[in-house]
Amino acid sequence: MSPTRDILCIGAGYIGGPTMAMIAYKCPLCTVTVVDIDPARIAQWNSDDLPIYEPGLEEIVKSVRGKNLFFSTDIEAGIKQSDIIFVSVNTPTKTFGAGAGMAADLQYWDKTAMQIRRCAESDKIIVEKSTLPVKTAQAMKQILTSGENGVHFDVLSNPEFLAEGSAIRDLENPDRVLIGSTQTPHGLKARDVLVEIYSTWVSKERIITSNIWSSELSKLVTNAFLAQRISSINAISAFCEKADADICEVAHAVGMDSRVGNKFLNASVGFGGSCFKKDILNLVYLCRYYELKEVADYWEAVIKINDYQKERFILKMLHVMFNTLVTKKICLFGFAFKADTGDTRESPAILIAKRLVEERAKVVITDPKALQNAMKDLASIDGEISYVEDPYEASAGSSAIAVITEWKLYTGLDFERIYRSMDKPAFIFDGRNILDHKKLFDIGFNVFPIGKPGLTHF
Ligand code: NAD
Ligand code: UGA
Repeated sequence: MSPTRDILCIGAGYIGGPTMAMIAYKCPLCTVTVVDIDPARIAQWNSDDLPIYEPGLEEIVKSVRGKNLFFSTDIEAGIKQSDIIFVSVNTPTKTFGAGAGMAADLQYWDKTAMQIRRCAESDKIIVEKSTLPVKTAQAMKQILTSGENGVHFDVLSNPEFLAEGSAIRDLENPDRVLIGSTQTPHGLKARDVLVEIYSTWVSKERIITSNIWSSELSKLVTNAFLAQRISSINAISAFCEKADADICEVAHAVGMDSRVGNKFLNASVGFGGSCFKKDILNLVYLCRYYELKEVADYWEAVIKINDYQKERFILKMLHVMFNTLVTKKICLFGFAFKADTGDTRESPAILIAKRLVEERAKVVITDPKALQNAMKDLASIDGEISYVEDPYEASAGSSAIAVITEWKLYTGLDFERIYRSMDKPAFIFDGRNILDHKKLFDIGFNVFPIGKPGLTHF
């Protein structure tokens, strides 16, 4: 049975849009409004061309938009009307002042808290959906209670664990929903309101509750653990390349141990995405703040290995292509930070493209969903870069292909045709280990996977 609530979400991004679409879809008696300061983004949410690509999202949005899901720029009206407000604004790494390059930039979150305090005329439950430093709920409460309008606010932490590319599946069938609250009667009552909403489609045993600081910390730690697994397997991929071992065989053997598990052990060109790096940096910053130097250094190493992996990939290309890339055409297969999304935030492709340009290569980028974002990311780069949607056209005349994103379409391409159209010797650097390396070698390519011996004709 759907509860009846007036829900507002502040921030119509990768999280606010899909999560609210799912709540509206599952709770037809709730009215859900998503607001943003960016009118262009809201216009896109109200159009046929949604601002983000996510499999299954369009169908859900179209089925509820205008019924119980609304996108608007009227933040004040939204605050006044709602009884639950999700805050889903961006919390990037700070680029200025104290904590630059490490701490979370809380300016968007802070402005939101102030605006809620100014506009609220009735009691509200405020839900932290953004990923935030531990103890942010306390600051939120302090801002909200500094007014004199007699409005009561309960602050909950309800971090989001969805991954891009599988957001709809993750929202529909989450491993868990975590709700942190203060343990006061008021706090517990507010928590139960949120539990009731999620219970509409998530089984009770998957909805877990905790104290509010544990909830905030659990989000940072989950991302740190996930990123740590990738850095662990990527570190071993470097070892494999020295020792003629095969990272896929090692990952398979290690992952068969039920205590380790086999997920998230794909060696790659490095992890990207808007959150892993920023959340670990935030964790490291908090550890240093609490004078936990050893703990900070431990987690910082996850980022260092990721930087090392990207660097290794670039240097491998340079060295095997006879230590010069000048005027060579190099085609990047994929620019998104992972498959099934157009998101390019922190994608390893950005650094790789920049470094290739520095080596005076001619860079051609192909991607089925991320070319617009790629153009924005590389707009300030002075060099020869072109953007071509068709992978055959993109790779024609190139000396090398570097697979950066694991788009399924790349595994089904006609590589004999591609080989014929390329300059010789032709190289493939498979930064995702998704291609059939032996077959490519037999066609004539010199093949360099991640964490496996290279296959060369020299
Ligand atoms: P995003 O940049 O896509 O969206 C944030 C939106 O908030 C933007 O559209 C921005 O215009 C809007 N905004 C900023 N300040 C505002 C204000 N004062 N009033 C109204 N709108 C405002 O970011 P995102 O990827 O959706 O991430 C949001 C939060 O969710 C971050 O804390 C992130 O760590 C967390 N998160 C993201 C993911 C993910 O997959 N992207 C997953 C889990 C958690
Ligand atoms: C990640 C987490 O998986 C989500 O649980 C979390 O909610 C989200 O961050 C967040 O807080 O933003 P996301 O970044 O969307 O989700 O995507 P992932 O599937 O985690 O992939 C992250 C990066 O790691 C990608 O570049 C991916 O290609 C890479 N990766 C992933 C590997 O290199 N190897 C793997 O085995 C898995």
